[in-house]
Amino acid sequence: MAHELTEEDAVSNDHPRVADGEPTPDATLAQAVREPAAASPDWWRSAVIYQVYVRSFADGNGDGTGDLAGVRQHLGYLRDLGVDAIWFTPWYVSPLADGGYDVADYRAIDPQFGTLAEAEQLIAEARDLGIRTIIDVVPNHVSSEHEWFKAALAAGPGSPERERFWFHPGKGEDGSEIPTRWVSEFQGSTWTRTTNPDGTPGEWYLHVFAPEQPDLNWNHPDVRREHEDILRFWFDRGAAGIRIDSAAQLVKDPALPEVPAHPGPGEHPHVDRDELHDIYRGWRAVADSYEEPRVLVGEVWLADRARFAQYLRPDEMHTAFNFDFMARPWDAKALRESVQTTLDAHAPVAAPATWVLSNHDVTRPVTRYGREDSSFAFTAKRFGTPTDLETGRRRARAAALLSAALPGSLYLYQGDELGLPEVEDLPLDAIQDPMHFRSDGVDPGRDGCRVPLPWTRGGTSHGFGPDGGAQPWLPQPHGWGEVSVEAQSDDETSVLALYRRVLATRRAEPALHGEAFRWLDSLGGVALGDDVLAFRRGDTRDDAHGDDDGVLTCVVNLGTEDVPLPADAEVLLHSGTPHGADTSEPPTRLAPDTAVWLRA
Ligand code: NOJ
Repeated sequence: MAHELTEEDAVSNDHPRVADGEPTPDATLAQAVREPAAASPDWWRSAVIYQVYVRSFADGNGDGTGDLAGVRQHLGYLRDLGVDAIWFTPWYVSPLADGGYDVADYRAIDPQFGTLAEAEQLIAEARDLGIRTIIDVVPNHVSSEHEWFKAALAAGPGSPERERFWFHPGKGEDGSEIPTRWVSEFQGSTWTRTTNPDGTPGEWYLHVFAPEQPDLNWNHPDVRREHEDILRFWFDRGAAGIRIDSAAQLVKDPALPEVPAHPGPGEHPHVDRDELHDIYRGWRAVADSYEEPRVLVGEVWLADRARFAQYLRPDEMHTAFNFDFMARPWDAKALRESVQTTLDAHAPVAAPATWVLSNHDVTRPVTRYGREDSSFAFTAKRFGTPTDLETGRRRARAAALLSAALPGSLYLYQGDELGLPEVEDLPLDAIQDPMHFRSDGVDPGRDGCRVPLPWTRGGTSHGFGPDGGAQPWLPQPHGWGEVSVEAQSDDETSVLALYRRVLATRRAEPALHGEAFRWLDSLGGVALGDDVLAFRRGDTRDDAHGDDDGVLTCVVNLGTEDVPLPADAEVLLHSGTPHGADTSEPPTRLAPDTAVWLRA
């Protein structure tokens, strides 16, 4: 029988419920150097931020859906993994038409996930372990079940309630034609027609995503005031920052023109409009008004790097996701170019870069890097695209070393530390993602990276929920127990062991804390080919000799031939062997699709 966790259960613990046992040796190392980083007001510049997709992380009450009780049970795991902060995907009251990105009430936790008191407890418990909390704010739209939208529908055309959204008469004599031909992010039209109280067809409303996600009108003062209040609501409860959903899409051109064939900067009617910056300046002022300033992280999908960087000016957001890096194929030239253009774009605004390998929207790296075309594009997702998981896993391990060695903050999506593959054979009737349905079933959707985590080898749901609890909301595939936390914890060759090492070493190595970075063309006097990425962190002077303690070199072999390593190099970490540093004979060659961190 599933145990329902009551509010009393949830808040009656004075101490963190850390159910993951004793810290691992790596965790002890991480702990030893945690304090200074955690205490720094600039923690976000180099933080490791772990993304919890609440629905799929851990199910504390056994109803088949992940919840805050589940997260609380595994805070010790996250501490031992060595993360500085958790970003929670939306946990608010929601009909879950888009996995919670359809928010009905920003000031309450969805009962499936827990209670507000429990969220406060969780934030405090995590903080006691040195882990900050970033919450997800979804300002572009609300749920069609939100009070404002229900009031707007009830109040009818021309009412003040409708002005908070984009209601518009249709074109044509009977208003039956859509107001614009804008294309939804989830495919299809961005407009849905309403029905008047007397049953006649009414106005249309705008939704850049699904019809259950009506867009707010950011020209309306209520919308601005409400969101600044929401920020204060959560900052007052200890949230250290916010992740801003669809951050470049809030503002629309009120004239509602069609999208030009080739819009110039700021000319698109609903993406990256200049007026957005004023909104984020307001939010920054709210964030800066706290004794420990809160942090703004933007979900900004923009190809134009200069426009992207404008969101990171000193009085706007602190950082924004670097999707360019994530979307690149496993190719040295492409990744090098992405790293360089990223650093170049951030330098003028003095903002740190972010390094993101995946999230709850994209194909897991292990699967993606095993494909012939290993780049990522939403439009390219199809059922039945082949992958070689062995290659993908080798590359994903190397990518862990690459991304964690770059200057800036690092995002880690739950399950990537286990090397989970995308689940590509979900039964069709289990899929819930609107991206799948709105593509008429052509796009597999995003549920394949949202399958509930395996914690134990056995059990009803591999430890996702209690034994004997309900089946998980998405079915776990055969063999999931073999990639579980339990199965990997005692295996020093596992992806989990590698990630623990990577994060502990990253925390312990001063060379990785600053922003100094320099590409290397040769190693130990031997020229490196075009298929190798090598860079130095820490002291980046050309003539840096002598005491190399503060210097770290990362080398990634993306080619098909071995690369010689300098004989005198100390290998701190190796993606291909358990731990390069622990082997009696340091490797002299770096095999294809592997990476090392060297002190040389
Ligand atoms: C981006 C989120 O990451 C995604 O999951 C969501 O569907 C859209 N924004 C709409 O909120």
